[in-house]
Amino acid sequence: MAASDLVALVDVWSSRIKTLVGSFIVDPANPNKPKLNILGVGVVKSDGVRKGVILDMEEFKKNLDESLTEAENMAGQQFPHVGICLSGTGIQIHNNKGMIAIPSNEITQDDVNRVLDMAQNGITLSNQTVLKIIPESFSVDLEHHVKSPVGMSAKKLEVNAHIFTVPTTALNNVRKGFKDVGIDVIDVFPSLLTSPEAVLSRRQKELGVVCVDIGSSCTGLAVYEEGVLRHACIIPVGGEYVTSDIALGVRVSVDIAEKLKTDYVDLTFCDLAKPKDEEIVLSRIDKKETETVSKLYLSQIAQARYKEILSLVNTELKRLGRDGMLPEGAVFVGGGSKARNLIDLAKSELRLPCTIGFPEDQEFVTGTSVSDPGFASAVGALLLSQRAGGFGRARMSLGAGIGGLKDSAKKFFKFLLP
Ligand SMILES: Nc1ncnc2c1ncn2[C@@H]1O[C@H](COP(=O)(O)OP(=O)(O)OP(=O)(O)O)[C@@H](O)[C@H]1O
Ligand SMILES: [Mg+2]
Repeated sequence: MAASDLVALVDVWSSRIKTLVGSFIVDPANPNKPKLNILGVGVVKSDGVRKGVILDMEEFKKNLDESLTEAENMAGQQFPHVGICLSGTGIQIHNNKGMIAIPSNEITQDDVNRVLDMAQNGITLSNQTVLKIIPESFSVDLEHHVKSPVGMSAKKLEVNAHIFTVPTTALNNVRKGFKDVGIDVIDVFPSLLTSPEAVLSRRQKELGVVCVDIGSSCTGLAVYEEGVLRHACIIPVGGEYVTSDIALGVRVSVDIAEKLKTDYVDLTFCDLAKPKDEEIVLSRIDKKETETVSKLYLSQIAQARYKEILSLVNTELKRLGRDGMLPEGAVFVGGGSKARNLIDLAKSELRLPCTIGFPEDQEFVTGTSVSDPGFASAVGALLLSQRAGGFGRARMSLGAGIGGLKDSAKKFFKFLLP
């Protein structure tokens, strides 16, 4: 077994800065299926960032440094560069078409790059940086739904693409934060594209599935069918809304509300369970509190917000004509998916098979446990980086300028293809 160079990924812009360090182990008997061996994990509460905006640069750098150091110490090795994952409502997804003529009659990789550039041209990108361009399908003359057109004979190439962008100022500030703590950022991924890679199988993407990432500030949605990304969007409601609702409803601090949410909320607890309702003594959480709160009341507050999130997910599926219609159903990731009995509630609200996606359940992930579905985006980004040749070799360094990011934006989709 041979181990690759160290790879590191930081999931920033969220409630916690999550760093993962690992290497890929290649079994000579099965060289096409390297295993991600996780060597170090660093998780630090992110106080300087809110909804994808750095509010306090010094705090952000301090938290980032702590998260990197934690992962480095656990791995026992340092890393000079990282890939990063961004989520939040700042990420925009544009859908557009591009078309070009093929002068040589045979489609080359350059032609594919050109048509992806054309797809970008029609959209307004003021103060936005393109992170990734994902073709949904190519058309080669009159042939539609082509996945990989290089080498085909044609006069005309068209693409229907999803273009992921991020506000340039926000991205520059993240890069500056990393530079100041001495780390080079090599590639940037939208979490929306990486979470599914950690938990969805090729077969699920072929048959039809939606990955729902319930984060802190928002919920990301990525729908796959026939092996390609059909639709991606961000719903601006996430776990912190549930916490705020509880804080307001019970009139307690956000910290107490968070504890009540994670320890007592049950998303299927209802009136019928009334005889079993229990009074939660708040002084058990904070000695200064004197009141009690009913578990039913607490659960009803959370249920209302989770139902809203699920109904917004369903609205998106309806727009695609896929509500209640995806054979592989919904796979939930993100910390918000850990709410007790989410799956039962989701099954009844979405009328789909529903499961939680655990990155470590995948046969290709080993090493330090990442049993938390909140790690899906970071694990998925590491897996994608490996398919792209590893951060070390790809050298798509942002430090070298935005050209590297542009290059990565267009090449990336190949690694998503099943
Ligand atoms: N047991 C639990 N029950 C309910 N919610 C939980 C539980 N554990 C964590 N959460 C919630 O999960 C959210 C954090 O999830 P996650 O780490 O995936 O978000 P993030 O990646 O930081 O945010 P984002 O993706 O929006 O930037 C928080 O709102 C937290 O309250
Ligand atoms: Mg997240």
